[in-house]
Amino acid sequence: MKTYRIAPSILSADFARLGDEVRSVIAAGADWIHFDVMDNHYVPNLTIGPMVCEAIRKHAVKADGTKVPIDVHLMVEPVDALAQAFAKAGADLISFHPDASTHVDRTLQLIHNEGCRAGLVFNPATPVDLLEWVMDKIDLVLVMSVNPGFGGQSFIDSALRKLEQVRKRIDASGRDIRLEVDGGIKVDNIRAAADAGCDTFVAGSAIFGAADYRTVIAAMRARLAD
Ligand code: DX5
Ligand code: ZN
Repeated sequence: MKTYRIAPSILSADFARLGDEVRSVIAAGADWIHFDVMDNHYVPNLTIGPMVCEAIRKHAVKADGTKVPIDVHLMVEPVDALAQAFAKAGADLISFHPDASTHVDRTLQLIHNEGCRAGLVFNPATPVDLLEWVMDKIDLVLVMSVNPGFGGQSFIDSALRKLEQVRKRIDASGRDIRLEVDGGIKVDNIRAAADAGCDTFVAGSAIFGAADYRTVIAAMRARLAD
């Protein structure tokens, strides 16, 4: 069976107690911590930067001491300097929107040179054609199922078709590339995304908006196992 990963987005966590939130959601079964970086330029919202990443790095560990990957989603323009800053701040995966970088190939190389895994993110209306030219240089494709900028929006259905298309490209490449979806993922639609070929699921409001994180994550896994 496929290995599915659940990546709670701390965008919907209580920012006043971020370290505790990261620990609780990991204890509740999170596989990755999704870290949304917004610059009030590429997207109309402003969130957290490398200093916060560095501060939560020590909290992103399992009870047995294993590191939990921090999955940084850069919604910033330009990309390169911040990508480097996040690598130094302990990020494990760094994804960016190709339309926010003038030289996508160079940005991917720069992320790898910093020792991180690199991903590309596609907005709902952005085509995925350029994947053809960088398939050998990416570790992750992130399909947005909402317009980036805010948590708590509704899932845009065309993301399912995009996931199917990207899944075909990944399989044809024969490479180990994660296919992640971000936006409006809930217990009720996670299975549809998996059926479209997705293996990694970001969920913000669905998890942090619930009273018990463990129950929601377990319900998501149950849907995936059906
Ligand atoms: C949106 C962010 C998402 C957001 C998802 O721009 O990239 O990661 O936190 O939140 P939900 O799961 O509430 O749609
Ligand atoms: Zn995100």
